[in-house]
Formats: sequence, structure tokens, C-alpha cells
Amino acid sequence: MRWLAALLVLTACSGADGRSARGDWPEPQSARFATFAAACGRCHAPPRPSLHTQKEWVQVVARMQRHRAERGVRLLSKAELAAVLGYLQGYARDGRLR
Ligand code: HEC
Repeated sequence: MRWLAALLVLTACSGADGRSARGDWPEPQSARFATFAAACGRCHAPPRPSLHTQKEWVQVVARMQRHRAERGVRLLSKAELAAVLGYLQGYARDGRLR
């Protein structure tokens, strides 16, 4: 939960373009960011979208579903997957929002 406090501090420092002061997580005020942070911040800190390409994110997110299953964590719904992938791919290394 400590990362969440850090995230809230970062969010409070957001610039007008919706990026945090350090540019770590784009659009921290959006609904899909909230879905992403909850879905991908449970076992480790949520990753930066720029870490992978759009294609790689599909594979990483599928692998994370397997980690959830192995640990008995509820699988992400189709709607949650769409929000998470939309966010990650938009700001991916080769994403159209970068
Ligand atoms: C149930 C626990 C769990 C959840 C929830 C989870 N992860 Fe992971 N994640 C792991 C584990 C375990 C590893 C290390 C092993 C691996 O890389 O598969 C990892 C590693 C990673 C890595 C580093 C390895 C790489 O391929 O770059 C990334 C990025 C990542 N996770 C992204 C995500 C995203 C995106 C989500 C949300 C969709 C997510 N994780 C949710 C357990 C989880």
C-alpha cells in the first residue's frame, strides 16, 4: 500500500497535460488508470507503460492472468482487461499516445 500513498502524492503534483510531475504514469486521474493500478499493483508496483511494446503487453497481461490463477486471485474480467490493455498499449514504447 505504500506505493499507493506515493502515487497519490504524484497525482497531486500532476501537470496540465495529465502526466505526473516525474512523467511516471500517464493520465493518473482517468478511470482506466484506476482499473490498471488496482489490477496491476497488487503483487508488485504497477509497471510503466513505456516498459514494453503494444505486442509485448498482450503477452505480459496474459502471463499475469496465469499468476492470478496460480495464486487464487480473481481473474480480470473482459472489461478490466480491455481497460488495462487500452491504457498500457496507448502509452506503450510504440504506442500512439506517446
Ligand atoms: C497475482 C500477482 C500478480 C498480479 C496481479 C500482476 N502481476 Fe505482474 N508479475 C507477477 C510476478 C510473479 C512477476 C514475475 C514473474 C514474471 O515476470 O512472470 C511479475 C512481473 C511483471 C513484470 C516484469 C516482467 C516483464 O515481463 O516485464 C511486468 C511488466 C508485470 N508483471 C506487469 C503486470 C501487469 C501489467 C499487471 C496487471 C495486468 C500485473 N503485472 C499484475 C505477479 C503479478
